[in-house]
Amino acid sequence: MKKLKIQGGHSLRGEIHISGSKNAALSIIAASIMTEERIVLENIPHLEDVTTMIRLIAGMGVSVTLADDNKLILDSSKIRNFLAPYDLVKTMRASILVLGPLIARFGEASVSLPGGCAIGARPVNLHLDGLKAMGADVEINEGYICAKAKKLKGAHFSFSPVSVTGTANLMMAGVMAEGQTILENAATEPEVINLGEFLLKMGAKIKGLGTRKIMIDGVNKLCSTEHKIIPDRIETGTFLVAAAMTKGSVLLKKTQPEHLQSVLDLLRQTGAVIFFEEDTIELTMNLTNIKPADFTTQPYPGIPTDMQAQLMVLNAIAPGNSIVVETIFENRFMHVLELQRMGADISLSGNTAYITGVKKLQSAPVMATDLRASAALVLAGLVADGETHIDRIYHIDRGYECIESKLSLLGAKVARIET
Ligand code: UD1
Repeated sequence: MKKLKIQGGHSLRGEIHISGSKNAALSIIAASIMTEERIVLENIPHLEDVTTMIRLIAGMGVSVTLADDNKLILDSSKIRNFLAPYDLVKTMRASILVLGPLIARFGEASVSLPGGCAIGARPVNLHLDGLKAMGADVEINEGYICAKAKKLKGAHFSFSPVSVTGTANLMMAGVMAEGQTILENAATEPEVINLGEFLLKMGAKIKGLGTRKIMIDGVNKLCSTEHKIIPDRIETGTFLVAAAMTKGSVLLKKTQPEHLQSVLDLLRQTGAVIFFEEDTIELTMNLTNIKPADFTTQPYPGIPTDMQAQLMVLNAIAPGNSIVVETIFENRFMHVLELQRMGADISLSGNTAYITGVKKLQSAPVMATDLRASAALVLAGLVADGETHIDRIYHIDRGYECIESKLSLLGAKVARIET
């Protein structure tokens, strides 16, 4: 069993590069199967979720070549099946992203229905309703979404609530549908824009990217292109919180500050001094006492739900009281129970966490429950007294490239151990 061992009490100092965005890479790899021509993708992060997406499309017959370190070359000219099997979907819900591309190009898809999830119900009803509005026949058979459509037809569809992968899926479907598709209350996350820009380069006709109303004129064919994945704003935010919590000073390179303004504003409220240029962010925390900061998660450009756990740990060591409200997923507080075991003073009521900062967290054996919860435990370990052991770290490998190497470069004492 692999674990992360962290010796707390070391300030993070130095500089690192931020990797490509997990969520942008996943949707863009899925979109690549919409053309029979060659696609080249740059800045692909080395992550378990990316490996899962590659296994998924390779299983359909896509030829995937890893060129240099972070470059993928994809050839989808010989796709032989339209299947996303349960074995892969159960390890990664984002597998649902192949649904739109498959039905758009081949008129057929069989995608395992994602089951339960540690952070909430996470239904995919909007993906399915949108495809039905575009004329697809959608049935659930033996746990699989079976969708068919001779030719998708443009439709007017409104999301409630806003859904990131829902917007991505229906945007990809709309790109090859007959006529116009209008998506209202669409997601404006940078990863959706990055996907849209990729589709535009492939020959799609899309207007309104980054707004709540996306308008798409369907085309018959998409073509070869090259595209660079944007930097990961959640990895960026996680390292910024790590620097703030350990009262350190870090310079993050190859990132995109404009994608995390709400997080930078919140970190400034906690006392961090932040400077940024076009693709770098420098954060220094000089205060002895970090200031607590209330926040509520929101769709972009608000505080991302994917940063909730990490920012909560920062509040957990800030003297004073704070309130965190989670509005996106109903059960995204699994990390709280583990943080309590490390001495955090947090109580829960519905979707709200009430936090009273403690002077010190203590080390403890803890268990990662989902991707961002595991990041929160790493952060807690960095400031805890003693040695923290984090179990089930496969969660962290899904979304953080070389986390222990990057933390070590910044001076943390972190190691991966086999027990
Ligand atoms: C994506 C991100 C994930 C992030 C989340 C919210 C990827 C691969 N994953 O997940 O990291 O935490 O956005 O920013 O990009 N909903 C429905 N019906 C649907 C779809 C969603 O009710 O058909 C609800 C969900 O239950 C949730 C809300 O909409 O309450 C937002 O979910 P959504 O944006 O779809 O999350 P994901 O796209 O799964």
